[in-house]
Amino acid sequence: MADTAIKGDSSVSYLRCIGCARIAPADRFRCEHCRDLLEIIYPGWEERGPGGLDAASLKQLWRERRASMELADQSGVWRFREILPEISRHQVITIREGNTPLYSLPHCAKSAGVQNLFAKHQGMNPTGSFKDTGMTVAASFARQAGYRWVACASTGNTSASMAAYAARGGLHSLVLIPDGKISWSKLSQSLDYGAITCQLKTDFDGCVRVLNEVVERMPVYLLNSVNPYRVEGQKTAAFELLEQLAWEPPDHIIVPGGNLANSSAIGKAVREMKLLGFISRLPKISVIQAEGANPLVRTIRENGGEKLIPVQADTMATAIRIGNPASWKKALRVIRETGGTVEQVSEVEIAIAKAEIGAEGIGCEPASAVTLAGLKKLVKQGFVKPGEMVVLVLTGHALKDADFTLKFHRGDLFAGTPHQAENANLKPLQRSPLVLDPSVDAVVELLRSAES
Ligand code: F0G
Repeated sequence: MADTAIKGDSSVSYLRCIGCARIAPADRFRCEHCRDLLEIIYPGWEERGPGGLDAASLKQLWRERRASMELADQSGVWRFREILPEISRHQVITIREGNTPLYSLPHCAKSAGVQNLFAKHQGMNPTGSFKDTGMTVAASFARQAGYRWVACASTGNTSASMAAYAARGGLHSLVLIPDGKISWSKLSQSLDYGAITCQLKTDFDGCVRVLNEVVERMPVYLLNSVNPYRVEGQKTAAFELLEQLAWEPPDHIIVPGGNLANSSAIGKAVREMKLLGFISRLPKISVIQAEGANPLVRTIRENGGEKLIPVQADTMATAIRIGNPASWKKALRVIRETGGTVEQVSEVEIAIAKAEIGAEGIGCEPASAVTLAGLKKLVKQGFVKPGEMVVLVLTGHALKDADFTLKFHRGDLFAGTPHQAENANLKPLQRSPLVLDPSVDAVVELLRSAES
């Protein structure tokens, strides 16, 4: 393989403004003219296809790479390198991200009222969230562009991922997180991987505001999800999903919505797959938000998507505690293009859905569980039909927020909140830890009563 470039000319990419379509320099995030976000385009694809190959050859090549011992091939992101921006082979930072499982969820299917339900579990990535698939691309680009520092504002998963990739790539990293509003396990990851970690006395949206000014003043590369290279990496989850489904699109893909980059990435992926002839129809992509962090839901319902309605966000699903999502226009475009929808779910609905996914032996963090909670509503509304195939994108591992899980099962998750009265509805799902005397009889007695 060539040393310098990881693939050929037909994958040369440009940054283009999603608003005015002007081309921007490779390391920008917003259009200098209209301030809209940028996205990566590949003009060479039109004539020659990605990497000069057609859909059938690419499908075969990507599968063959799963048996390869090459580093880039072992990554579930870089094995799809033909559809990614060109990065020098020596600059690629990989922790073997991607290649995540697709699980069936038979019990959750029954509870939601559909026959065919699957979870694409992006929490099975190296740092435990979907962020790794985008981070490998954006951190590699940062290194290639000569940056020594990378930075992000985060609700916890981006920071964990960025800190890991920076450490692996010999870069310094700066993390801004809202004080007291992210889970301990996510905070511990960023410390463990050596990031400079600042807990700001504000929320996520406040951290973003501070960071945007910091990167103006210092030679620091921004790795928040406005970074278009992150979106490209996150696209691969959808390519991989379709590969796992033998390139037969599901009817629905349901994604949690926070800053709204992941839904944008999955949407971009299915758009490209259709354009390139990998699939013949688009799955409907729907975005679910927590009721307390619902700016996209409000924007679509209250002004038809004209202008973002930011909210003061609050939810126990801290990963999506975001009131002013940067990628809302991209997500809106995806929902419209694919015929998807938006829905919001309550704190109690999230907790129940999370416990149901856990009881399947899979588990996820609270933000991921909004997908199942949302699906139940979409089935009730008739938007999702019982016979349709649905894929939930689970974005974070169950261990990302063990506190939430423990509180749920002990019965004190909603103590002192307006939802306290609803605890009775959670009882059938709660498995409180039992404290017993160290006696064989006591344990045997317990087993007998559990069986009856
Ligand atoms: N699920 C999890 C587990 C997340 O961590 C996030 C976002 C989302 C869903 C929402 O994805 O922002 O692309 O719509 N977490 C970011 C972070 C904001 O900083 O870790 P989105």
